[in-house]
Amino acid sequence: MNYRHAFHAGNFADLVKHAALLQLLARLTAEAGPLTVIDTHAGRGLYDLAGVEARKSGEAEAGIARLMAAPDAPAEFAPLIAAVRTLNGGAAARRYPGSPWLIAQALRPGDSYLACELRPDDHGALRELMKARRGVRTLCDDGYAAAIAQAPASGRLLVLIDPPFEQRDDYARIVETLAGVRRRNRAATALVWAPLKDLETFDGFLRDLEDQVGAPALVAETRMRPLTDPLKMNGCALVLLGAPDDMRPALEAVCSWTARTLGEGGEARVYSV
Ligand SMILES: C[S@@+](CC[C@H](N)C(=O)[O-])C[C@H]1O[C@@H](n2cnc3c(N)ncnc32)[C@H](O)[C@@H]1O
Repeated sequence: MNYRHAFHAGNFADLVKHAALLQLLARLTAEAGPLTVIDTHAGRGLYDLAGVEARKSGEAEAGIARLMAAPDAPAEFAPLIAAVRTLNGGAAARRYPGSPWLIAQALRPGDSYLACELRPDDHGALRELMKARRGVRTLCDDGYAAAIAQAPASGRLLVLIDPPFEQRDDYARIVETLAGVRRRNRAATALVWAPLKDLETFDGFLRDLEDQVGAPALVAETRMRPLTDPLKMNGCALVLLGAPDDMRPALEAVCSWTARTLGEGGEARVYSV
């Protein structure tokens, strides 16, 4: 496993994923009844944007730094902007929150959160960050298998799947995990992040989801540039299962602003399959 999220924290893809995650959590926590969240690929939970990795890649500079300075960011980014301000005590964004920090902040008493991270060093940092949080557990293990094994059979459940896509079978394992989770809990909501390189791979993934999971999905593509070079990460996509109906306009706002403002000839597409 070579992937280190510290190089990518706060980039355009994190902005889209985390703004959507906070929009989804706001809706799910507005409803009565406990919510369980399972984060299959949690990372370390908090990132130092002044660290070697972030400075080397420059991705946060082109992402969260521009969002924080933007005069025209849509209201759908407000919860993420507020979270980054809180984390940094109102000063310039030196630290950036990962999904565990954002999820833990959003949960109410009685909700619960399982954060899975396979790398022992990143899991150590995550465990330390989360240790005082009520209702939060961390696991240094394979998040795909943990989601299927630990999904509660009843009650409201959100599964976040955000792999590094280093392994050839990541797409197949996402499909297998969603099928397994929804077999246990038909009402589960899911948010999946995927890179957009070439459309063939992504369309194949959506077809497999339809065949093997069989649930309608809301798809939000943020194309940062025309998809002409399949070797580049040309954008990212979110796939939502069981999402509230009003997520669609929120996703349109987030993805369009990101593609238009941070992309080069970018565009957003939000559709149901
Ligand atoms: C894209 S990062 C996650 C970022 C995080 N979800 C966030 O939004 O802040 C992917 C993480 O998954 C971890 N990982 C890779 N394979 C895994 C697996 N099978 N189970 C759990 N974690 C895994 C990597 O070490 C990496 O930290």
